[in-house]
Amino acid sequence: MLSWTLSCTLTVSAMHAKDSAVRTWTVPVDELPPKLQLKEWLVRTPLVGPWAQRFYKEYVGLEGNDLTKHLIEIRRQAFEVYKYRCVASFLFVNYNLEEKYGSDFYDHIFRRISCGERFLDLACGFGNIARNLVYDGAPEENIISADLRGEFWDLGYQMFRDRERFNGDFRQGDVFDKDYLHDLDGTIDILHTSAFLHLFDVSLQQKILRRILQLMSSKPGTIIFGRQVGNTIPYQVLKHSMRPGRGLYQHNEESFKAMFKEVTDEWDIQVWLTPRMESLYENGGRIGSLRFIITRIR
Ligand SMILES: C[S@@+](CC[C@H](N)C(=O)[O-])C[C@H]1O[C@@H](n2cnc3c(N)ncnc32)[C@H](O)[C@@H]1O
Repeated sequence: MLSWTLSCTLTVSAMHAKDSAVRTWTVPVDELPPKLQLKEWLVRTPLVGPWAQRFYKEYVGLEGNDLTKHLIEIRRQAFEVYKYRCVASFLFVNYNLEEKYGSDFYDHIFRRISCGERFLDLACGFGNIARNLVYDGAPEENIISADLRGEFWDLGYQMFRDRERFNGDFRQGDVFDKDYLHDLDGTIDILHTSAFLHLFDVSLQQKILRRILQLMSSKPGTIIFGRQVGNTIPYQVLKHSMRPGRGLYQHNEESFKAMFKEVTDEWDIQVWLTPRMESLYENGGRIGSLRFIITRIR
């Protein structure tokens, strides 16, 4: 026990020291799902990649047609809660941290979480990231999941069939409510957020970033990472049938960095945009996936 504690102390402080010197991450090529209209997605069956086949077989106990039927039923129920495109397109099925951000980065955060650092998945939806980490062996007591909608979290128990064995810490609430997650202020070492910031315009994205910064630990090496929809030409989507009046802002790498730097200059920001090549978006840009890993320098 003592040697494990000591090895964790050494590992984590060495990792923090390395991060304060700023580590350059390399992320794998991003696999984008096919480009389809929403109504086309809704009649599609999920494409289950090798990682998800293994995960659902081993963690959930489902494979083949049974798994397909199960996922379609969960999507039907989730779509009744709120009509998110990422739910329609089964984004949650194959999304896992190792494949999205690379083994180096995943090993790094996994060891830190295993050594007691606190991880928060903000706007967690079903809680698939908490399951991703727990399935790989991370201690669930170091993982917190937060979302506006408790219905998604409840559907997660149905999706992962783990109500009796998964005791994840879930906090329901609105990130714009200043009292929400207040008890966690200054305590989060690693924060993940996926398909979330892009739901808002730039001023609201900055408001969320300010809130995230309050949640984060002051130690150099503290990490914020995630993904969202991006565009080679930054674009404010003005009319959106599913988000009337809220505005969705799609960043490219430069505009994302500039937005963050306006909030604080104490962090190193690495961003990767993988645009779709097959077609131009309505603003003349190419939309795609924007991934980011942001590390506190001081
Ligand atoms: C598009 S889904 C993404 C879910 C998940 N992160 C994923 O990648 O599959 C956006 C999530 O943000 C949550 N959300 C939206 N507004 C929020 C708010 N104001 N505070 C907290 N969560 C919010 C929604 O409930 C939903 O689960």
